[in-house]
Amino acid sequence: MASDRPGEDTIQDPLFILETGEVYRNPTEVKMSQIVLPCHANHCGELSAGQLLKWMDSTACLSAERHAGCSCITASVDDIHFERTIGVGQVVNIIAKVNRAFTSSMEVGILVTCEDLYTDRQWKVCHAFGTFVARRTEAGKVQLKQVIPRTQMEQMEYSLAAERRRMRLIHAEIITDLLSSSTAQLGECQEYQDAVPAERTRVESVELVLPPHANHQVSTFGGQIMAWMENVATIAASRLCNAHPTLRTIDMFHFRGPSHIGDRLVLKAIVNNAFKNSMEVGVCAEAYQGGEPLRHINSAFMTFEVLDSDRKPRTLPRIRPEPVDGKRRYQESIARKKIRLDRKYIISCKQTEVPLSVPWDQSNQMYLSYNNVSALKLMAARNNWVLNSEKNKVSLYTLEENQMLCFKVETHVDVPAEQTFHLLSDLRRRQEWDRHYEECEVINQADEDDTIYRVATPSVSKDGKGQDFILLASRRKPCDARDPYLIALRSVTLPTHPPTDDYTRGEVLCAGFSIWEESSTVTKITYYNQATPGVLPYISTDIAGLSSSFYCIFSACSHFLEANRDSLAALPPSALCTVTRQDCHGPAPYERKSSNQ
Ligand code: COA
Ligand code: ADP
Repeated sequence: MASDRPGEDTIQDPLFILETGEVYRNPTEVKMSQIVLPCHANHCGELSAGQLLKWMDSTACLSAERHAGCSCITASVDDIHFERTIGVGQVVNIIAKVNRAFTSSMEVGILVTCEDLYTDRQWKVCHAFGTFVARRTEAGKVQLKQVIPRTQMEQMEYSLAAERRRMRLIHAEIITDLLSSSTAQLGECQEYQDAVPAERTRVESVELVLPPHANHQVSTFGGQIMAWMENVATIAASRLCNAHPTLRTIDMFHFRGPSHIGDRLVLKAIVNNAFKNSMEVGVCAEAYQGGEPLRHINSAFMTFEVLDSDRKPRTLPRIRPEPVDGKRRYQESIARKKIRLDRKYIISCKQTEVPLSVPWDQSNQMYLSYNNVSALKLMAARNNWVLNSEKNKVSLYTLEENQMLCFKVETHVDVPAEQTFHLLSDLRRRQEWDRHYEECEVINQADEDDTIYRVATPSVSKDGKGQDFILLASRRKPCDARDPYLIALRSVTLPTHPPTDDYTRGEVLCAGFSIWEESSTVTKITYYNQATPGVLPYISTDIAGLSSSFYCIFSACSHFLEANRDSLAALPPSALCTVTRQDCHGPAPYERKSSNQ
């Protein structure tokens, strides 16, 4: 089955033979198989997405509870893209497992496949990540035990989970910022003569939360709420096209507050915008009891298509938004569509399929940054590196696979990890130890942790032209003691910095440093690089054993770090900021004690 998200295969092969010969199955893994009956299906004989969301949520919650040993609630679900529909009589298989536990929350990976019992065929339906939180006790917030990854795949998922968590926690704020900046540029809504008034698609429906909708702690199941939301969204979508709509995607969403047995849930939906072949439906869920004011529980944005008899998306009628809020939502849905496309293109592609230099802009920054860091984490988690050569405590490793050549250089320095991280994360200082960095300038400070640089390197060819690179550098502090500091590098393109006649534009697919604290004074530095034609000339002679320029460069790097061990200049400007987005909403960076404190 095709895998289109990083590390997805982890939950596809739950039985694993360890080096000891022991058959290993992830202890948090939970499986559910359901035969799709007419009562689970819509009038077209397809499994309703709401029912599937309920099964996914229950399986994932049971996995989370298996790890936590106590009751858990759904905090959020990342974007879900449904690749296929499932018919009555087919079997749905769901596998969930905890990828990583943080403090009281856990990321659970959920893989849904469908099986046709008559033909013995199986295919992927979707892959999702849910975050579950262990319910607070009287003593306060629960401190969960750690997940210990045992296979290479588990190690990859574990490492990526920290990056996904970072993205999740800043997601709402970034989307709000992007919406306000992008809608300002869109201008007035276009008027179409034959457009359907949005009002015609408006749905409001109420549900009473009964015991079967809740767990033994009387909290409403997250999956049940998602199912109710999907139900009203489907009605709104059908009213636009007077046909049966198919749910394609649900944007990442967050359960803002709990709901309990006895709550009345008011679900409101309307079509925010109709594009050529797809429409965005927004849904809002609010709860109340008796005369209490409404509590906002959740909002979601779902994309539907209408398929013709050949299963191709049909052209949809246009929508005429209502004044004020309707027009705002219409504009925001255009901005969300762009964000969705970026996300699908940049995150969901296999690493090797992402074009080398993706055009950077503010709206895809979050996804490019994720892509940058996750690619480096995936490379670092590989366990088939081969030691190529070793000299003066600098080791050069290579990894060759499917016409791909990666190399890594490893060394130790007597400098605290945090200081090493600060010194290496300012690429402009690389000129002080790497002769390949002839010029380096910051061209965009994308955010606190992401900077775009232009780097010029000397000529290696006869035409005498040097190369230049436009690099996105994404820095990450460890999420906890089991993560390294990371500095990930990849090429991007910027319209303001096109290639020039003076330089050949080189590209970096994936490179960067991982910095591990070995002790309070000793740090292990590993530099990774996935060789592209632009980079190969600089390293091929080293790999072939014909030169040892890398040893010289990394020895120079060690000297540079040791000479600046106590330099305050290494502290990034952000260290002086008082309040940042990360401080307000992001994961608390794991702070290590620096030796000079
Ligand atoms: N996505 C993922 N995790 C999130 C999150 C989001 N949008 N918002 C908060 N969290 C995580 C935090 O990172 C934290 O994890 P950690 O302890 O591992 O660091 C954990 O949730 C608790 O956060 P905390 O700050 O202590 O509490 P909070 O006031 O932010 O509450 C919830 C978070 C999820 C507990 C709260 O919003 C809630 O009760 N929501 C309703 C959950 C529910 O009932 N779901 C079922 C359907 S109604
Ligand atoms: P926003 O208005 O910023 O989109 P909300 O959380 O208020 O965010 O609502 C989410 C979505 O729910 C809206 O985009 C809209 O599609 C739908 N919605 C909100 N309120 C109503 C309503 N009164 N009637 C119908 N649909 C609604």
